[in-house]
Amino acid sequence: MISYVMWPTNMLAKSLWYILALSCLIIHPDEAEAEPESGRGVELVLAQPYVYEQSQYCGAEDGCLQLTVTEETGGTDSLGEYYQLHNYYTTSLGTSLILSSRLYGDGTQVFRQEFPDGLEGTSTGDKNLVSTCYPRFTLPDPTTSPDLRYITPGGYMVGWTLYSQGLMSDELEWFRDGEDGGLVVLFQGGGGGSGGPVESVVLSPVTQPMATNVRLDRENYTLDFGVQGQAESIYPGYSSEVILNPGSQGITKNIMAWGESVKTLVGTVKRDDPSARYLSYYTDNGAAHYYNPLPYTNFRDAIMSVYNQSVLNDIPIRRLQLDSWWYHKGEGSGVKNWTEIFAILPGGIAGLHESTGWPIVAHNRYFSSDTDYAQQNGGPYMFTMDEEQQKSLPLERVFWEDLFDDALLWGLDTYEQDWLDRQYMFTSALHTNLTLGETWLDDMGSTADERGLNIQYCMSFIRHLLHSTRLPAVTQIRVSDDYILCPHQWRIGVTSLLAHVLGLRPYKDVFWSSSINTGVIFNDCELDVPDIEHPWSIIHQYGGKTNVSASGKPCVPWRYFGWDELYFGNGMYDNFCRNPANLRDGAFCYTKASFELPEEEWEWEYCDVPLCNFDCYLFNGLVYLGDHNITQSGRLCVDWAGDYNITGAKCRNPDNDEAPWCYVTEDHSERDYCNNKCQEAVEHNPHLQSAVATLSGGPLGVGDKAENLNINLIMKSCNAEGLLLHPTKPLTVVDGYFWSTDYQELWTGYSTISNYDFGIIFLAEIDKELTMTPADLNLENAFMSISTRVFSNYPAGFSYLQTVVPGQEMLLPSCSGHLSFCLLYTSPALQTSEGDVYILGELDKWTPVSPDRITSIMTLSSTVTLAVEGVAGESVSIAFSGQTDFNITCNFLTTGTMTIDTNTRSCF
Ligand SMILES: *[C@@H]1O[C@H](CO)[C@@H](O)[C@H](O)[C@H]1NC(C)=O
Ligand SMILES: *[C@@H]1O[C@H](CO)[C@@H](O)[C@H](O)[C@H]1NC(C)=O
Ligand SMILES: *[C@@H]1O[C@H](CO)[C@@H](O)[C@H](O)[C@H]1NC(C)=O
Ligand SMILES: *[C@@H]1O[C@H](CO)[C@@H](O)[C@H](O)[C@H]1NC(C)=O
Ligand SMILES: *[C@@H]1O[C@H](CO)[C@@H](O)[C@H](O)[C@H]1NC(C)=O
Ligand SMILES: *[C@@H]1O[C@H](CO)[C@@H](O)[C@H](O)[C@H]1NC(C)=O
Ligand SMILES: *[C@@H]1O[C@H](CO)[C@@H](O)[C@H](O)[C@H]1NC(C)=O
Ligand SMILES: *[C@@H]1O[C@H](CO)[C@@H](O)[C@H](O)[C@H]1NC(C)=O
Repeated sequence: MISYVMWPTNMLAKSLWYILALSCLIIHPDEAEAEPESGRGVELVLAQPYVYEQSQYCGAEDGCLQLTVTEETGGTDSLGEYYQLHNYYTTSLGTSLILSSRLYGDGTQVFRQEFPDGLEGTSTGDKNLVSTCYPRFTLPDPTTSPDLRYITPGGYMVGWTLYSQGLMSDELEWFRDGEDGGLVVLFQGGGGGSGGPVESVVLSPVTQPMATNVRLDRENYTLDFGVQGQAESIYPGYSSEVILNPGSQGITKNIMAWGESVKTLVGTVKRDDPSARYLSYYTDNGAAHYYNPLPYTNFRDAIMSVYNQSVLNDIPIRRLQLDSWWYHKGEGSGVKNWTEIFAILPGGIAGLHESTGWPIVAHNRYFSSDTDYAQQNGGPYMFTMDEEQQKSLPLERVFWEDLFDDALLWGLDTYEQDWLDRQYMFTSALHTNLTLGETWLDDMGSTADERGLNIQYCMSFIRHLLHSTRLPAVTQIRVSDDYILCPHQWRIGVTSLLAHVLGLRPYKDVFWSSSINTGVIFNDCELDVPDIEHPWSIIHQYGGKTNVSASGKPCVPWRYFGWDELYFGNGMYDNFCRNPANLRDGAFCYTKASFELPEEEWEWEYCDVPLCNFDCYLFNGLVYLGDHNITQSGRLCVDWAGDYNITGAKCRNPDNDEAPWCYVTEDHSERDYCNNKCQEAVEHNPHLQSAVATLSGGPLGVGDKAENLNINLIMKSCNAEGLLLHPTKPLTVVDGYFWSTDYQELWTGYSTISNYDFGIIFLAEIDKELTMTPADLNLENAFMSISTRVFSNYPAGFSYLQTVVPGQEMLLPSCSGHLSFCLLYTSPALQTSEGDVYILGELDKWTPVSPDRITSIMTLSSTVTLAVEGVAGESVSIAFSGQTDFNITCNFLTTGTMTIDTNTRSCF
């Protein structure tokens, strides 16, 4: 039977049309022939659906899927009015399958598959494939659409680690699908900054994201959404939906529209989460106290030193994050039980919470197969086990109730579920069972919500990000890899966009507010440790920044030949020497390798990196064993001659002194310290970290040792009680990012107060001037007034750049140099009878105009009035520009609101 579907033309997004072939029909609407706007729109042809059953993919043309009835209906839901097409099928097993699609007025489509009777035998055996294919799109022919590009976030941290974008025609090796993909954006071409908006489609699961895969069939050139490839069966009544959002206003705007559609369909309102709005202290990977209480012997003293410092210097820390160093670990380093090891944290978390008053943000990871909680190990709760991968997963809600009830007693405020990717990848039941992923996250999320707890997702895949939209308690999400492992982790412009549009606060991760924190564990040397699993062999670990081989040849970046992905999780950034999976006997790199070259022709070499404890010492060198024999003042060591049972002339620390030392006179009357310390990690630009974290609109965690907390820098982020001064919309990339490196990293955001938008433009490593329209910058509303002032406030102090009138373009300065960045801000003209007034704001803050500080703005004939929030004792100075520049200072005697009147230049 033939069913012909033509959407009314007014329902189609302008100049963007789809050749819609629903179910087994390929239809070419007449318009298609008449209006082939090739090179602009993205044409996806809906292809025949498939299901995997009885060991093969089966579709209508094979006679496996019999179309029985087709029905056209209409209706209305939270997204508005839609036109709906239902196709009823019978599978070869006699079960029914309903495939339907809803088309909304703006061109958005939702595709739904339903299995009223379920389906057996659906596992393809490959977790990266799909067991059903609906929707299945045939992609535009690469020869006729050579400009078609894709954006696919991939890997953990909402797709940050394996994010990729490129041309569909010849850069498909980077395309992320399967287990760690989930979101696909396709667009045609791209142009200069003012090359006009680009048409795009955004595709993602909207319901059942935990159990849905997307797969690019590279052979048949189709894009398939469907049930994850190892699902053993589909239970009766299962349904899932995929959304397609077309947009002609540009890529970032379309991603925003997609986020709105997803949020509207899901309909969840997030909890207010103060832990994302107040200053925090973090102890996770990269923090000075990550697995390291030094110079104290336990973590209680280490954290109390931070607390004492915060009290002494009025550093308004309001939350404390505790990373994985405090609880009991079992098989595969998973959680044995989530209770503290008292020897390293005397008084426990409860004691720390009581002494500091700080609510606790507590990390947790995957459960180990020998976890104390599981019935299999004599515990009280039902768990599913994956012995082979040494992981387990709780199956009952009561587990979460008890876990959180206990944790509330020790001050838990925010539960950080970390290692989400590993839990998913290595728990086979999460791949074979279609409900488990959903119930696990729902149980955790709803239990937290009931108890007023917030949740931070960490190391999430796109599927976790999408699933979080239905959970009010999941309010924050990590958007880049660990601070210390990756030198690029501040580049969060894309992932912040994904998090933000789905209602989550993006988290950049901890940072140092000072350049140096000595005595931490992050040193640039190779650590050789015994392999617990293979006695007699040694693991050679290197995580430093050497990027040339021993003979001095430049190393090839790992991603140029796919090893970043092959050895995912081994810190394969850039072209740093590494030894992934302990492949060789030390740090090495390839000096010749690429996708194009056959692997036999690749060339590698070891790198000349210092060996920890031999070539250089760590901490105070207690276990230093090398032959260094020159002291800090350049004197030569003399033989120890048996003193402390040591012989030979070399640096040693046998008496737990602050550093290795040696005698420098034959009679041992004089000694001197050695200074061959391993190179310590250095934060090259704390300002960059601080600005990016603040302007991300998410949590902000500092992680220095107490004495290195840089109060001046920290206070650029928050008010006197630690309330972060956030923008309304965080900094996110602009469209140019997706097709040209000229625009990396150019991010924009804004603060909205009483319908006025104050723009924020962040530029980093941009080495040419750029001409942009407000629309290119996603800042249309910030440039609505009769004139808008653009000023620069970092790195140099305040200066005017340009006054922009409607219709005018903006010239952005270049801002080049490794890790350099610049911040520009905009203010609209507020018209009064005395002339225009511009609000420049608190110039010593990263967000000079923030709704967290200024809560309303009113213009009344001759004056502008501002409601300003402050804390008792705080002095808030707001800069303005009119005929002249002026400042008005509000001195808060009590916490609350004061009013600025620009006419009298007073604050009362
Ligand atoms: C491509 O399609 C053919 C024919 O339908 C099918 O046999 C083949 O398995 C498909 N390729 C992939 C990679 O799925
Ligand atoms: C913190 O301050 C308290 C009270 O002054 C003091 O007893 C304690 O020793 C200090 N702890 C550290 C680690 O500095
Ligand atoms: C947690 O694990 C440790 C180490 O195995 C054990 O000593 C302790 O009793 C366990 N605590 C709980 C509450 O199960
Ligand atoms: C799948 O997991 C759910 C829990 O979410 C469980 O109730 C169900 O029995 C599991 N199904 C199979 C086939 O194991
Ligand atoms: C190695 O890293 C340094 C510092 O980041 C950089 O300046 C240099 O260009 C890099 N060299 C190579 C060969 O990549
Ligand atoms: C000091 O070390 C250097 C380099 O290892 C070595 O050549 C020299 O012989 C040593 N001197 C003494 C006195 O051991
Ligand atoms: C030196 O070694 C001997 C024997 O191993 C031991 O008895 C003695 O305590 C050691 N002396 C020092 C200072 O470590
Ligand atoms: C306003 O205050 C800022 C610092 O807060 C200062 O740099 C600037 O010079 C002041 N402007 C005027 C006109 O006083």
